[in-house]
Amino acid sequence: MWGYNGQFPGPTIEAHRGEPLLVEWINALPTKHFLAIDHSLHGAERDKPEVRAVTHVHGARVSAGNDGFPEDWYPPGHAMLYHYPNGQDAATLWYHDHAMGITRLNIYAGLFGAYIVRDAEEQALNLPSGDYDIPVMLCDRLVAQDGQLYYPVSDDPDAPWVMQCLGNLVLCNGKIFPYLEVEPRRYRFRLINVANTRFFDLSLSHDQAMQQIASDQGLLAAPLERSRIELYPAERVDVVIDFASFAGKSLQLRHESQGILEFRVRAAGRRDTSALPATLRPVTRIDPAAAVHDRILTLNETDDANGNAMQMLLDGKRWSDPITENPRQNSIETWSFVNLTGDAHPIHLHLVRFQVIDRRPFDLFAWNAHRKLVFTGPPVAPEPQELGWKDTVRADAGMVTRIAMRFEGEPGRYVWHCHFLEHEDNEMMRPFEVLPAKS
Ligand code: C2O
Ligand code: CU
Repeated sequence: MWGYNGQFPGPTIEAHRGEPLLVEWINALPTKHFLAIDHSLHGAERDKPEVRAVTHVHGARVSAGNDGFPEDWYPPGHAMLYHYPNGQDAATLWYHDHAMGITRLNIYAGLFGAYIVRDAEEQALNLPSGDYDIPVMLCDRLVAQDGQLYYPVSDDPDAPWVMQCLGNLVLCNGKIFPYLEVEPRRYRFRLINVANTRFFDLSLSHDQAMQQIASDQGLLAAPLERSRIELYPAERVDVVIDFASFAGKSLQLRHESQGILEFRVRAAGRRDTSALPATLRPVTRIDPAAAVHDRILTLNETDDANGNAMQMLLDGKRWSDPITENPRQNSIETWSFVNLTGDAHPIHLHLVRFQVIDRRPFDLFAWNAHRKLVFTGPPVAPEPQELGWKDTVRADAGMVTRIAMRFEGEPGRYVWHCHFLEHEDNEMMRPFEVLPAKS
């Protein structure tokens, strides 16, 4: 495998709000990739070095030149110094590779790690912290009989890209079904889905519930009891689990019915002085009526004659098409994702945090016939866990998923894309440009 600092997952970066951080990301990888590159994909042509890397901190509000724009990759032997202002609310972020056309392979190879932002307001809540605050990065991998990591390929050696990659093993912090010894007390776990395509359906054994305290971009207004948590690629959920009544016993975190992490609860531990307050941090709702722009954007899949996916597109456009999404700095916009495909896609925007406004069923035939949005039912309100700040949203099939955000941050060029990495690498990614605020 590959890893940041030779680790899989890479080292956890801990930041504090208002304390900027400089990171030098050094590409010390070998010059030959160990997974099959599809040179027919945009940005991965034969004239490009085989091994390229550029790091993006997912969910960070940084300037364009420090964001890890996919075309800002560099080959082995080169480095990039990135500046992270950390001027944002406490949240569980993560860093990963973003090199054009090979992101799915680089992340699959192991290029990711956790990036935690803390702030004083969150610390004042006295949630479990220190040794009791643990990132849990979940992914799946295909491991062959000989123990080698395997990435699926199509039957065309000149175009090995496949539309999804589902593993036979679930890895928790890089390990197969590891265990963690815990004390009979409260813990905070930061669940991060770093898989290429897999979504996780998480629960605890013994019908034990978890208290969700945060989503992608930080604290919810109040803890939310969850017995099952669905996590799409790149989504995060922070939970508090209380092991107090399990002293001397064990408990499992499961994906469907499969154990992925075992908690072995000690008979006794230090006194638990942490708290789980009834309210966390207010989340002020963005009024969609305040939007200066309502963008209607389709999610498309193009198929070959046999019905096999050839590529995915955003609003029918390719990466190299001229920029069409150009919000003004500090303005509020709503974006409506009209999903014309048969599947849900996790859609992510760089730079901003957003809120889910609603999902609404629409008439696919009316759209295909005259590009007209005809709703076939009332809007569906976001689920309770979607009422906090998000940066990745599940855009369901047959639905228009609407989000609202304020484009806070520096002007410049960023990207939005599907976080199924196979889709992202095959044209389901577009640049957007934040224009300077009108003075
Ligand atoms: Cu996880 Cu473009 O990001
Ligand atoms: Cu997708």
